[in-house]
Amino acid sequence: MLKETRQHVIGDFLMTGETEYHWGDTYRSAYKKLYSRSGQGCEMTDWIDWPIKYLESDEYKRLKKTAKKIREQNDAVIVVGIGGSYLTPKMVIQSEFGESYNEFAEENENPKIYFVGCDLSPDRINGIMDLIEGCDWSIIYISKSGGTIEPALTFRTFWKKLYDLYGEEADNRVYAVTDAQKGILRELANEHGWESFVIPDGIGGRYSAFTACGLLPIAVAGINTDKFLQGAVDAISDCKEANSFAGKYAMWRYYNYFCESKVELYAVNAPELSFLSEWLKQLFGESEGKNGLGLFPTSVVFPTDLHSLGQALQDGVRDIIFETFISRDFKSSVKIPQSDLKDSLNKYQEKDFSQASAAAMDGAFKAHTEGGNPCCMIRVGNTLEDLGYLMQCMFVACAIYCYMIGVNPFNQPGVELHKKQMKSSPEWDK
Ligand code: PA5
Repeated sequence: MLKETRQHVIGDFLMTGETEYHWGDTYRSAYKKLYSRSGQGCEMTDWIDWPIKYLESDEYKRLKKTAKKIREQNDAVIVVGIGGSYLTPKMVIQSEFGESYNEFAEENENPKIYFVGCDLSPDRINGIMDLIEGCDWSIIYISKSGGTIEPALTFRTFWKKLYDLYGEEADNRVYAVTDAQKGILRELANEHGWESFVIPDGIGGRYSAFTACGLLPIAVAGINTDKFLQGAVDAISDCKEANSFAGKYAMWRYYNYFCESKVELYAVNAPELSFLSEWLKQLFGESEGKNGLGLFPTSVVFPTDLHSLGQALQDGVRDIIFETFISRDFKSSVKIPQSDLKDSLNKYQEKDFSQASAAAMDGAFKAHTEGGNPCCMIRVGNTLEDLGYLMQCMFVACAIYCYMIGVNPFNQPGVELHKKQMKSSPEWDK
């Protein structure tokens, strides 16, 4: 039932006869490369059916038990990671709880969760150190390579504080999510006996949402990971069907790319989804932006940004931007009240804020289309299954689209270069 709803609400756009006529062969060849595992980077495609395997695995059973223990033992949890090693949990927690997860953590009997290692601000580190003062806390350290400098420096800093507080007991308060065999984090985990979980060889950082990388922190936040994984499982077979949402979305991006758009703008309908945009930007930006090819993904929240960037979108530089609206159903309702105020708003009374939001999205969609930006609307339900489903579809869409434009969706040579340059920067010698 849910599955049908999801199929109905996601997508339902584009893939006209014309696009099939023009680009059907390019699409089919990319689809074949992905599913026959013969395209560039094909050794990194184990995410294709990973959620099915993981749902039944022993590691997943252990992960849920460990998450329960972490919840019971701690007032706060420090999650260390960057890029693909932090965006999924940050996004899912924000999408479920909005900005207020930590504010209501105690009331909901959840530990507070602080994401660190994704920036290098000493002010923020100090702020979080102050916030966890007097708390019982543990660390989840996520890094596939185990050597990324931002999280590594941050982990060392929080580890010192943890060790100063708990002594040898600190080793029972670190949980590592990393490669099974290689990397400094794996070596540290083995040496110290930290409980650890694996990001498999065949799954890269930004495709690791349904491994312990995404699942351990969200389970600690009290989120039902079974439902989240089930959504991804449902998407696996749907994505293989002709005319799937993933295929249509890959085609939509390719169509715009072919028409020489340079920028894809994600426009979400609620601030709770701003990290869904961050997640999408990383998935697509890091997968497609190479060899001088690909689109540049960016994002806005509507209606907020209609009052800042709306003018430029409507009427500014033309022919480089297309817009992908993501409109999620809301979970609750706020009616516009009856009132004696002479504010000329009586015609809206008893209407819901969700209608106001839908009207804003609809208005922007029509206005921007008229202004010349191609727009499409992705409508999604608000359950965890819907979110898991959408994310797995996005993996498939991203990989197919990258094969359509001829790039390897699974490497990130540019990121590797910056990592190297940062380590040898003269700033360290000042
Ligand atoms: O998608 C990717 O591979 C990257 O964004 C990585 O997740 C990011 O660079 C962090 O790498 P690591 O998990 O090795 O610390």
